Amino acid sequence: MPAPEGAASVRDGEVCGALAQLRCCVVLPQLWSCIHQASRQSRKPCNGKQTPARLYLATLPAVTAMNYRHAYHAGNFADVLKHTVLLALIEAMQAKPTPFCYIDTHAGSGSYALDGFEAKKTGEHKDGITRLHPAEKVPPLLQRWRSLILSGEGNEQGLKHYPGSPLQVARLLRPDDSAQLCELHTDEATKLRELLHRDPRMHVHQRDGYEALKALVPPKEKRGLVLIDPPYEAQEAEYKQIEKALKEALLRWPTGVYAVWYPIKLRSQVQPFLRGLQRSSAKRVLRAELLVHPDDSPLRLNGSGMVILNAPWNLDDVLREPLRALASLLSQERPAEWKLDWLLQEGAEPPAPSPLPPSRLAAARSPLRGGPVVRGAGPTRKR
Ligand SMILES: C[S@@+](CC[C@H](N)C(=O)[O-])C[C@H]1O[C@@H](n2cnc3c(N)ncnc32)[C@H](O)[C@@H]1O
Repeated sequence: MPAPEGAASVRDGEVCGALAQLRCCVVLPQLWSCIHQASRQSRKPCNGKQTPARLYLATLPAVTAMNYRHAYHAGNFADVLKHTVLLALIEAMQAKPTPFCYIDTHAGSGSYALDGFEAKKTGEHKDGITRLHPAEKVPPLLQRWRSLILSGEGNEQGLKHYPGSPLQVARLLRPDDSAQLCELHTDEATKLRELLHRDPRMHVHQRDGYEALKALVPPKEKRGLVLIDPPYEAQEAEYKQIEKALKEALLRWPTGVYAVWYPIKLRSQVQPFLRGLQRSSAKRVLRAELLVHPDDSPLRLNGSGMVILNAPWNLDDVLREPLRALASLLSQERPAEWKLDWLLQEGAEPPAPSPLPPSRLAAARSPLRGGPVVRGAGPTRKR
């Protein structure tokens, strides 16, 4: 069933009242037709177990799951963190001369017009990439990332197009490196194909990224990096899917590097997910977070994180100064905060069982396990 177009999809189901109503108007007729179709296809009469209400609830994730469009959010503060970490990971891969494979499970359309309807509607890039003004003195990794963003076609006179993860990676890959890009939404996948079809290193698959991951690992190169960057429209259920996908992928390919982006609204929503990763079979797990608001409201995106399984051993050193600089550049009403710590390190003791629930435990003890947590806060920025 096609996703409803037009309504500004908000990451992680973040909807204000008016927008929720708008979405209901658009989505409800489709839901009803979907319910009737489902009930027809099941060839069973409606019984007590199969009420329209239950069918409605069963259909809801399938409908909302494809409502997200990254064009509304491209270049926002979360993209800045995600793509800076991505550059650091690609550079780590390219420290060795042997080719590697990049796998993007949720690739998006690859390029986003910052003067387009969607970007203008939210203006999110103004608190993200647009803050990294060329005149600003920033650490070398951020300088290289900014040049990468500006280097593309159409950006000669300044930043007009924000490249998504596949296009950034395409600009970085060496001739023998390759990329497998998965995007489920038809329009987004079509745009991505059009954008990259001349590049034989880039392979676009219109399919579910979690399913594809099972088939794509281990890649023939045996070395590689996976980015898992879902829209979180399934909210907390998305974490379960990621955990399952990672578990299966690590079994098939224990040495792959896996980077997962996650939204931060309420700290208590994220904590069980991170704890689960501490029990994964990865050798090392590094967490990098940037918070522009306190992590205590479910109603907005307060920050985001990247958690990297089998992270390069020195990735914390590589990211420390860039994170500090980003906190300073991206602060909003209050100084932004950042966190950088190993949640799991080879040879470290497993965490002792604790009677505390995860949210209280987090407050009582950080880092979760592993090396010291580095926290910081940038100055408040006048806007
Ligand atoms: C956050 S965006 C990706 C942004 C991109 N990784 C970047 O950094 O530029 C998430 C994308 O995942 C797509 N998507 C949603 N569910 C999917 C699934 N199960 N498999 C593959 N793609 C999916 C959405 O259509 C959307 O384009």
